[in-house]
Amino acid sequence: MIKLDIGCRTQRRDVIGIDPYLVPSDGVKAALDAGLPFKDNSVDVIYAYHVLEHAPDLMKAMEELWRVCKEGSLVYVRVPHASSSYVTWVDPTHRHGLTIETFAAFAMQKRARFELDYARLRFVTPRAGAEPNPLRRLLGNALDSLANHNRAAQYRCERWWGPWVGFDEAFVILRAVKEPPPDHRRQAVEARRALAVAREDGVSAQAAAEPRERRRNITPSAEPKPDLDYSLEDFFRGPYRPDTRFYIDRLSEATQQAADRPWPGRILDVACGPAEEIITLSQRGWEAWGLDASQSMLSLACRKAREQGGEVLLVRAIAETLPFRDSSFDRVTCKGAMDHFAHPEAFVQEVARVLKPDGLAVIALANYESLSCRVGRWLDSALQRVRHKNQGERPYWVPPEDHTFRGTYNQVLDLGGRWLELKGCLGVSLLWLFPGWGKTLEKLPKRLTWTILRTADRAARRAPTMADVVISVWSPRAETKGQETA
Ligand SMILES: C[S@@+](CC[C@H](N)C(=O)[O-])C[C@H]1O[C@@H](n2cnc3c(N)ncnc32)[C@H](O)[C@@H]1O
Repeated sequence: MIKLDIGCRTQRRDVIGIDPYLVPSDGVKAALDAGLPFKDNSVDVIYAYHVLEHAPDLMKAMEELWRVCKEGSLVYVRVPHASSSYVTWVDPTHRHGLTIETFAAFAMQKRARFELDYARLRFVTPRAGAEPNPLRRLLGNALDSLANHNRAAQYRCERWWGPWVGFDEAFVILRAVKEPPPDHRRQAVEARRALAVAREDGVSAQAAAEPRERRRNITPSAEPKPDLDYSLEDFFRGPYRPDTRFYIDRLSEATQQAADRPWPGRILDVACGPAEEIITLSQRGWEAWGLDASQSMLSLACRKAREQGGEVLLVRAIAETLPFRDSSFDRVTCKGAMDHFAHPEAFVQEVARVLKPDGLAVIALANYESLSCRVGRWLDSALQRVRHKNQGERPYWVPPEDHTFRGTYNQVLDLGGRWLELKGCLGVSLLWLFPGWGKTLEKLPKRLTWTILRTADRAARRAPTMADVVISVWSPRAETKGQETA
């Protein structure tokens, strides 16, 4: 069994010490960032105590650890905790402020995928040659048990109160996960791109992959398929300027408010992604169900629910065939996802089926005819006449290629078809991503930024045609209820 002690801090006898400068006689002189002299998948256990905060490139260091680990190998890590700016920055060679969450985030990485098996925050750590005074030790015990009660408590500590008291150290045990998640998503996007080209040419997707000269007399046949492998990397990539942060928070809040009511019932969030809204609603007493087609999004939702102490029932299925009985939910929500569905109309029919007769559906859809999109598009075409612009990047008013239709206010009005009846619409957020808007807000005092964004949002609420997102509320049509499965 190969065990490595990176940095030689454990004083164990059963390990191979690794250090670029000082190594015990049976150790190896090597540096993590320059590459470890071990084969891929060869190491069983790694200890990295007070090492990673020095790494010039943390991602590279984690990738190197992951490379040498076998599937399921454990990596024991101790680092100064970022909540204490003193311990984090007392050493001028430290380069990172680290938290438990920093390591939890590696569960979503592809080339450095680690699951967090265990985590602990320590208020007091013994310093070389000095015992902490008894009062500090006593206080430490109390704070440690408060902070480490469970993962949700650790999250709350790191997020809210930990920085006030300053924890000395984070200790985590990471488990290497090796089997690569299949890249079906990339395949799906490529297939869709091929289909788009094919439709233009009037040939099938399969034929589109063939050389042009071989494509003759073939009729279009391929249909869009549900995307089963959406991942965190497909989410909005930033930059997270004030307009984006406001947009994300306000959309989540408005969706929850539209779905909530004084007496809780059963709620289903279709294409729930990280399931933020239903986690909150479950804490208010709702029986919360989250459904998504992607396993990695469900894992993320599961982790979030655990951290935040919410109880959510998660199901992997597709929106077009919901695995639930007729009339079983009081609320169905779907935020920012309907334009990803291969068959949106089948989803609408399913929503009408699973809703109770007095139930409501809340659908939030991005508006690609918002004020921001319209003016942005107009400005862009005006500018293109006077200067050459880079055409490489997708402008924000063009839907990404994984969208199956272009959401607009007028589209929303027609969403319900024969199955759902529109009860009302409201707009959320104004001018998101408008050129220069986020950067300008960034320069203003925070309170003023917030007031401007709130005021703009209030205007958007009454003018959904102009808003960045349209939230629509629907009830099942009485005349078609009961025929949904026909
Ligand atoms: C942009 S994310 C939105 C996630 C979440 N509603 C939110 O607002 O954070 C789109 C989600 O739709 C899911 N999805 C795409 N097609 C689906 C389908 N046919 N059935 C169920 N989920 C689907 C993806 O896996 C992804 O989690």
